[in-house]
Amino acid sequence: MNVNSGNTNGAGSEGQGSKADQFSRWGFIMAAIGSAVGLGNMWKFPYITGKYGGAAFFLVFIICLIVVGLPVLLAEMAVGRGGRGSASSSMVRLSGKKAWGGFGFISIFGSFMIFSYYAVVAGWTLHYAYLSFTGQLFASNDFGATFGNFISGSLPVFWQFIVVLLTAWVVAVGISSGIERFNKILIPGLVALLIILVIRSLTLEGAAEGVSFFLDPDFSKLSPTAILVALGHAFFSLSLGMGVMITYGAYVNKKQSLSGAALAVGLGDLLYAFLAGLIIFPTTFAFNLEPTQGAGLVFVVLPVAFSAMPFGAWFGGLFFILLAVAALTSAVSLLEVAVAFVMEKWKTSRTKAVWVTGIIAFLVGLPSAASAGGAVDFLNFGGKSFFDWMDFLSSNVLLPLGGLIVTIFAGWVWKGAYEEADLTPGWYRVWRFTLRYIAPILVVGVFLISAGVISE
Ligand code: PFF
Repeated sequence: MNVNSGNTNGAGSEGQGSKADQFSRWGFIMAAIGSAVGLGNMWKFPYITGKYGGAAFFLVFIICLIVVGLPVLLAEMAVGRGGRGSASSSMVRLSGKKAWGGFGFISIFGSFMIFSYYAVVAGWTLHYAYLSFTGQLFASNDFGATFGNFISGSLPVFWQFIVVLLTAWVVAVGISSGIERFNKILIPGLVALLIILVIRSLTLEGAAEGVSFFLDPDFSKLSPTAILVALGHAFFSLSLGMGVMITYGAYVNKKQSLSGAALAVGLGDLLYAFLAGLIIFPTTFAFNLEPTQGAGLVFVVLPVAFSAMPFGAWFGGLFFILLAVAALTSAVSLLEVAVAFVMEKWKTSRTKAVWVTGIIAFLVGLPSAASAGGAVDFLNFGGKSFFDWMDFLSSNVLLPLGGLIVTIFAGWVWKGAYEEADLTPGWYRVWRFTLRYIAPILVVGVFLISAGVISE
């Protein structure tokens, strides 16, 4: 077993032979929350909650998060800290079998794909913050056309570039002075913005109707599909299956309680999702708007509400900044997965790894930026744009696959999980049982639904 410094391999070290660059206790928790809390919480969670039964679905989501999400989260953190490497080499080291490197690589590839288009969407939120603060967003009432024109033009590429540059810079600075510091500044900022926006939305006239749509339980909508949707979202929301928590776990020292950290991350993510719902539904219902999901909700529906409320330009601007912050802290975690891998594989410095990975990610993201608006014909094929394909393949195929791989690894293959997870014998048995039997079966169900093999 290796010790804290872990500076014999790429991901755990800075390649300078000095004491390894690591997270502090809080830094790790903040960074992991930063990764978990992202665009998904704001534009997917409220919508699926409203669609699948309000508080009844929320309850199922909480159960999924506790019963499957937290055990897998703990497993990923433990694999990272035990293996002290990238999502690929950690598994090789802990199992002694090279084949696991290939399995680990699936999630590295997936997180790289997510990063490439996530940076595009993060760029849109920055542009919209700018449009809102300057009042330009409200120059026309046709928000659908404003958004359509924006994403079929070339401006998204500029903003994508800014996001990749910013993310790369944070990752290049390193773990404690870069990623940790970035999250420690932005997460409290995120909380402040959330509070302001929740107060604003709950004090709108007609807000109560939105709250009851979000939270009144309707158990009749709780189909088996709803349960798998909740589980799939728990995985995406906790950033599981993409090597993020393994990679971050490699920078944690042995004194940190991983179960405590997993609990804090789960709680933070849940709370944020809940508050996001308390912003989205009261705001849409107060202005008689149809709540929807994805880009349509954020960039088309909500601006209508912002245009109609007092000081709407400010609240709109703050809302888009909130989204940008949530997206950036997730983007940083996604890029770090690939950077840790490149540093280790080609024994290169962090700075070089970041620039190479960042430039490739920017280039791979270009077709996403260009295709989201449907403006470039050859980037639309098989009924989806390139952007949608990237999202579909990474979040609906590679993510559950990565989740399955890590549960099987921690449940069946890796023998040292017990020491690393540091659970009491009773909890360890519960954890192992979940990883061995419950999680894999459910994740296969999620995979079949999200990949479209069985219909929703
Ligand atoms: N958890 C992020 C969200 O909810 O938006 C998205 C995400 C980040 C997914 C990192 C996967 C990942 F590895």
